[in-house]
Amino acid sequence: MVAVQYRAERTQSADADLARIIAEQEEIFVRRQPESARLAAGAKGHLAGGVTSSWQITAPQPVWLSYGRGSKVYDVDGNEYVDLHGGYGAALAGHAHPAIAAAVSAQVSQGTHFAQPTPNALVVAEELSRRFGLPSWRFGNSGTEATMDAVHLMRSITGRDLIIKIEGCYHGHHDSVQVSVMPSPDDAGPAEKPNQVPSSTGIPRAITDLTLIATFNDLDSVARLLDEYPDQVAGMILEPIMMNAGIILPEPGYLAGLAELLHSHGALLTFDEVKTGLTTGPGGVTQLSGVQPDLICLAKSLGGGVPVAAIGGTAAVMQHIASGGYEQVGTFNGNPLVMAATRAMLCEVATPEAYQRLELLRSRAAEGIERAIADAGLTAHVVTAGAKGCVVFAAEPVRNFRDFLGTDDRYSHAHWLYQHNRGVFLPPWGKTEQWLISVQHDEADIDRLVENFAVFARAVGEG
Ligand SMILES: Cc1ncc(COP(=O)(O)O)c(C=O)c1O
Repeated sequence: MVAVQYRAERTQSADADLARIIAEQEEIFVRRQPESARLAAGAKGHLAGGVTSSWQITAPQPVWLSYGRGSKVYDVDGNEYVDLHGGYGAALAGHAHPAIAAAVSAQVSQGTHFAQPTPNALVVAEELSRRFGLPSWRFGNSGTEATMDAVHLMRSITGRDLIIKIEGCYHGHHDSVQVSVMPSPDDAGPAEKPNQVPSSTGIPRAITDLTLIATFNDLDSVARLLDEYPDQVAGMILEPIMMNAGIILPEPGYLAGLAELLHSHGALLTFDEVKTGLTTGPGGVTQLSGVQPDLICLAKSLGGGVPVAAIGGTAAVMQHIASGGYEQVGTFNGNPLVMAATRAMLCEVATPEAYQRLELLRSRAAEGIERAIADAGLTAHVVTAGAKGCVVFAAEPVRNFRDFLGTDDRYSHAHWLYQHNRGVFLPPWGKTEQWLISVQHDEADIDRLVENFAVFARAVGEG
């Protein structure tokens, strides 16, 4: 009884400390950025919410950037940051990479848009086939378009309407996948049969009902749905490493088990590698796991910082496009400027040597932060996958979205503020996002991340 009371008092005092730390750091944050504050206030009249995408609305205020070079970005107040935000995981090349800049500059003077194929598109498709093992590719402009095409294709090929999606996976903002992305504990429903929770307004219930929800790392949850809806499931889409709930790794055999299960029910498997694509390794999780899905979606880092998406498929799947069974279209698909940048990204930037360097920096970050966690007696651990990594503020590994819901977001927000106020720009949105190390980062950048973390850990730890 006394022990319980003591623990409760300690928790209350830790809560108060954390609230005070967040308030102090938010005050420093705002003080350092008067020009951002001025622009944010002025922008509200002409930019809805004062930003260009709703995810840029972050507490305590959006950060307005001026330029980026190498591993750094600079805000409009002149503050320099080691950039580990990477534009929500799209800057594996870093900023103004000479190879990307040269490719884009050369193409600008040769014309930026034709809506006809150019030779660079073929080089890109061949290189993607080599890396990801799927023979045939098409292009688009965003991750949302790629996953939308994948869902359309799975339905079009099978003639079935239902799809399976994992609770806590994000696949962009088209209707079919805007279901149970970040459901609140009140809405999520029972863990063994999650609710189908719309993630936005404006999505017809009839569409939401077609998206069935399964649990990551739980083959039985998929088997149950396939049995409950026989011959009605077109396929399943998932992030093969979950990266919109921190980082959640697939357990051994899970991805292979999914492929087998779905195929045995005449359904298709899509890996959404929009985030994991080039960042976890040259051929993404597909190559790392050795599991061949029917479809792969890529975007984000693929274009070296310009907007591009790719969708790859087996010969059978892509024949459905070639024959006109499904029209995969878009005015800017395979745009020459974008294809020039993507070719440079694949052939000159994301090279074997670059991946060797990224691995060194990955382990330097992970080991340094783990050391700081231990020194400070903090309840946390590091999860990494290639150039991506995050700190999970929990003792136990997170296996699925329900585990993730149970982790404390306040620590992630406090950590983000500490890093930001000390010159390291991590992605905002607390525990959902993860860092991205680019090919232009160096040891000094990583050491700054680790040193800042150690300061934070000492402030909030129990050691
Ligand atoms: C896994 C995944 N798929 C798809 C998307 C959508 O990509 P976009 O924002 O380019 O539409 C995202 C965006 O964060 C993502 O993380």
